[in-house]
Amino acid sequence: LGISRLIGLIEKTASIPYYSVIGDASGKIVYVSNRDGLRRTWVYDPVEKKNTPITAHPPVIVAVPRRSESNKIVYTYDAAEGRELHRICIVDIDERRETCIKELEPMRIFSLAWDGESIALTGSTQEKLYLIVFREGRILRKKEFNVYVDVSDVNERYVIGYGMLSGDPRSSEIFVYDIQKDEFKAYTPRKGSINEKPIFCNEKILFESNYEDLDKKKLYTIDTDLSGEPEELVFKYSDYTDFEPVEHTFYDCRNNKIYVVAKKNGRTQVFVDGKRIPAPQGSVSGGLAIIDDTVYYAMSSLVEPHQIYRSTDDSFTEVLTNKLPDELKEAFGERYFVKIRSVDGVLVPTYIVESRKTSKPGPTVIYVHGGPWWEVPDAWSPIIASIIVSGYHVVAPNYRGSTGYGEKYRLLDIGDPGGKDLEDIVSVAKYVVKEGIASSVAITGYSYGGYMTYLATTKYPDLWGAGVAGAGITDWQEQYMLSDALFKKFIEILFDGYKPELLSDRSPIRYADRLACPLCIIHASNDTRTPLKPVMRFMEKLMESQKLFEAHIYPGLGHMVVSTDDLMGFVAPMITFLKKYYVERRA
Ligand code: 4NP
Repeated sequence: LGISRLIGLIEKTASIPYYSVIGDASGKIVYVSNRDGLRRTWVYDPVEKKNTPITAHPPVIVAVPRRSESNKIVYTYDAAEGRELHRICIVDIDERRETCIKELEPMRIFSLAWDGESIALTGSTQEKLYLIVFREGRILRKKEFNVYVDVSDVNERYVIGYGMLSGDPRSSEIFVYDIQKDEFKAYTPRKGSINEKPIFCNEKILFESNYEDLDKKKLYTIDTDLSGEPEELVFKYSDYTDFEPVEHTFYDCRNNKIYVVAKKNGRTQVFVDGKRIPAPQGSVSGGLAIIDDTVYYAMSSLVEPHQIYRSTDDSFTEVLTNKLPDELKEAFGERYFVKIRSVDGVLVPTYIVESRKTSKPGPTVIYVHGGPWWEVPDAWSPIIASIIVSGYHVVAPNYRGSTGYGEKYRLLDIGDPGGKDLEDIVSVAKYVVKEGIASSVAITGYSYGGYMTYLATTKYPDLWGAGVAGAGITDWQEQYMLSDALFKKFIEILFDGYKPELLSDRSPIRYADRLACPLCIIHASNDTRTPLKPVMRFMEKLMESQKLFEAHIYPGLGHMVVSTDDLMGFVAPMITFLKKYYVERRA
């Protein structure tokens, strides 16, 4: 294919909208989608069968009112051209009237809860972390914090949440904050266990914990005053237990029922009181909308884009359809899940999607997800899809540190980022060549995946045909200095403390002169998570040793990919670069 045909194809791919259901408000489904090219909040009225966009700015966090009849949602947006300094707005979804809070200076808001009356949030400035409570649009409490916490629910009396309250990066405790008394209480059922996402549920607190089985998170309830022992949630039906989930992506208590989205091996299932409801294979993105006992959710897989579905006891139907055009669909070959052995015997869960637009073995792209506490599940990814329609097989290793395979596996990268996780990626790359899937391999990723791309191509220079790094990390030390309070904490958690020597040892800039394959660098100038400055210094090093690299720097944009144009800004250079320097240069 010529470049312009190729760009046309990936533009079609990148324009396929995603859907993520946030929940419901005022009897309508609240969801986030880029269906008109820009990320927006929408509502779908199931009675009138009508979709309406409701937010003026691209949302970052969207919260529907919990346990109330309120028809208002709360959302945050970036008010600083990609620098992730957020403002908060309240939207009446029936009147489509929006009021934004002026009292708070824009800051990085990283968690938010809303019950229809109070807003609780955690946010970060350059220097400090805060827990803030608003009522009627005014600040009621503003507490400075020196640890990382997320809020997950609020009512008229308490804010509840979880975080690294003991100081141990391998554990997480839940907390209850009494708003009136200004009292804070932390709780863990066992030292060193992971306890997360507490929500109010029938006069109790419902939360997720691995305290009984490190590798399996279960749901428990405990009294609101955190006294007594936690009780494991027992469901009326046994489907949930039979599924043996590893973790939960969503749970809620409504109409005296428990609704759960549970996950195993990169796929989710939906349960009501433990009974599995019919749904297609793949992953639910976001949560559930529950309207008059009917469950609505957005679901996709690696080979099928997101659609919104409705489930009844014995079947599911599409509420909002989103089909792949034949021209794109025909590119997708086999999709499978394998566990691949790494250097020290650890098994790396990996999704592979073959492209029908090439041979087998054929040119292959190793796609490395970001996070690092994230994963490539069986869900639609416009980046992966763009690579497949362009004629490459895609291999997505869920390297150690990935979510979805138990806490023991997730915590393996703490104190060792850019160590064994990189070796997992290398092991997977060698495996797909040996197994006759790949004729050779290129590597790409965004953010932590961009970091892995820089590190893999400099530390294992002979393995790769090309690399494409988006929003990558090249120098942890400089990045730490430029980071705000939250991301300083993040780096301290990831590296198990502030360790200047380890930061330097794991920085690609140290190994720049070893690069041997063509490298494409894509970066936004206003990125405050993975700042551009250290990447510019990395480029200087590449110039000094006369390496082949190309760079695309986008002004006025940040870390978050918000529009179809932003997405094209990553995938178009990637695909053109791979064609020119990976395929044609080798031929
Ligand atoms: P992302 O990558 O989570 O994939 O966006 C990272 C970005 C920043 C940091 C780590 C990972 N950091 O520690 O600053």
